[in-house]
Amino acid sequence: MQIHKHDAIIIGAGGAGLMAALYASKGGADVAVVSKLYPTRSHTGTAQGGIGAALGNLDDDKPIYHTYDTIKGGDYLTDQHAAKILAENAVDAVIELEHMGLPFDRTSAMRISQRRFGGHTREFGKELVRRACHAADRTGHMILQTLYQQCIKNDVTFFDEFQVVDMIVVDGVCAGVVAIELGTGEFHIFHGKANFFATGGWGRCWSVTSNAHALTGDGAAIALRRGVPLQDMEFFQFHPTGIYRMGILITEGVRGEGGVLINDRGERFMERYAPSAKDLASRDVVSRAIYLETRAGRSIKNRGYVHLDIRPQTVNRYFAEEGKDRSDFIDDATVERKLPDILDFCRTYLGVDPVHEPMPVQPTAHYAMGGIPTNVEAEVVIDAAGTLMPGAFAAGETACVSVHGANRLGTNSLVDLVVFGRRGGLRMADYVKSVDWTDLPKDAGAEIQAEFERIRQGSGKSRPGELRAKMQQTMMDNVGVFRTQETLQQGMNDLAELRERFYNDLHIDDKSRVFNTDLMEAWELGCLLDLADVTARAASERKESRGAHSREDHQQRDDENYLAHSLAQHDGNWAAPSIQTSFDKKVDLSLWEAEIAQGIAEDQQKFRPKERVY
Ligand code: FUM
Repeated sequence: MQIHKHDAIIIGAGGAGLMAALYASKGGADVAVVSKLYPTRSHTGTAQGGIGAALGNLDDDKPIYHTYDTIKGGDYLTDQHAAKILAENAVDAVIELEHMGLPFDRTSAMRISQRRFGGHTREFGKELVRRACHAADRTGHMILQTLYQQCIKNDVTFFDEFQVVDMIVVDGVCAGVVAIELGTGEFHIFHGKANFFATGGWGRCWSVTSNAHALTGDGAAIALRRGVPLQDMEFFQFHPTGIYRMGILITEGVRGEGGVLINDRGERFMERYAPSAKDLASRDVVSRAIYLETRAGRSIKNRGYVHLDIRPQTVNRYFAEEGKDRSDFIDDATVERKLPDILDFCRTYLGVDPVHEPMPVQPTAHYAMGGIPTNVEAEVVIDAAGTLMPGAFAAGETACVSVHGANRLGTNSLVDLVVFGRRGGLRMADYVKSVDWTDLPKDAGAEIQAEFERIRQGSGKSRPGELRAKMQQTMMDNVGVFRTQETLQQGMNDLAELRERFYNDLHIDDKSRVFNTDLMEAWELGCLLDLADVTARAASERKESRGAHSREDHQQRDDENYLAHSLAQHDGNWAAPSIQTSFDKKVDLSLWEAEIAQGIAEDQQKFRPKERVY
């Protein structure tokens, strides 16, 4: 096997990976990025509506308000020190991106333009604030292009279309990764002092998702298989507005610009569920409301979707009712200019023109709040006491720092990846100077090669496509927006059967080596099955409702028993695993008593019980 030796190996070329690569290389490390996609095809490119930062360009705003919103939005499972770092570093990060050349939209005073997003407020919940800095509805795409250019300029080495499939752990130290070169099918070893996982999420566990086909949770599954527990896996966010049936994201920026959700009776139903925030309530609240409208027979034509309406005549009518200034009113040209991509998606995929017709939308599996546990320097943590796995780092959606708690606010994913990508890059640059190389074992890579041979040679009857479709359906039906012990048990039973077939009865048609997508998709299915299983089990253990985890049989938040992170540890028996879920990892409540304590206390007493929608 070919061996490539670099100080820092970055796995994944989305925003977190590129930011880490950039900063590790600026810090003097020799950096290689290993990515299964060409970097600018990474999923960060699909983030649409904006990146949150309290610049205060259009409204009065401060990082402390952003911190508070992040903690409240996360239903108090957010680690508070991490939220403070996120909000404070966001301001510098956005300005830095602008200086790198990111073409943000502008205000009339030529400052970076900002728009409203759900749950972002000023003065501790007083009023929605314009905080999302945007480049039309292509903000993630612009971040990706900008960071890739900077990495090239900084001489980062790229291995494109190399898929990482295993992690090499020697006496508890992460010493590198194993990858397949997709174009040849050959295995390669990447020997690194620091190994940074930035492989994104696993929305492909569900049948309706905003996530691209590549979002199969490879990094988290690999870490789990090599002994790292996964944190808070029960929390998976459904974005309220995916294109009906397809799941493709329609940005929350539509509602930020005044768009409203309408049911079959023509009602703006969010007025009933969240009287103050309405359509810009946090995503868990809006997704549950859409499901409840559907259950009550009020979805459009009773088909499980509602309308998202950004037609200027509708928006301006509600603006007028709310007493908004006429300068806020929109016209066709505003919609065309601010939301070009979503217009394009709807016109192309649905034949619907949002300037003249409402868009059919339904909740879509969007974002993993849980993942590989890390500290605020992106170092991987392996237990409730915070013990590190030397040489292992992670950031972005695959990681759990935990800054999103039980429910992420829109725009905070982009903040997370630039802020913790940068911190991780800087930490790696120091780390690689302070440690010696760990020798690789002689048989490095042998185990994963054998696993690929098992998949390639499988002579069973179960095709990956069939298993994948069944997994996605059971996750949608049983481990979705609403859960009960009964549905979760059904999900776990279905997954056990699917795993049994995956390990003992698999068959793929393509036995070749070159660009064998059949083989790679089968291996990715194994990752998805592992993560789906952990998600269902952790959800079954958390017997309360919090953020995106809504248990109809345990409807209250239970701080006494569950104000804690879950850690799910695998026993290594893949066909019939046992997973231990503990709730020993404490939530960091360090700001509880400080500046924002009063806001949080008031919110807990006054707003939350009213605004929770089951
Ligand atoms: O709605 C959106 O534009 C999505 C943003 C996000 O998930 O942060």
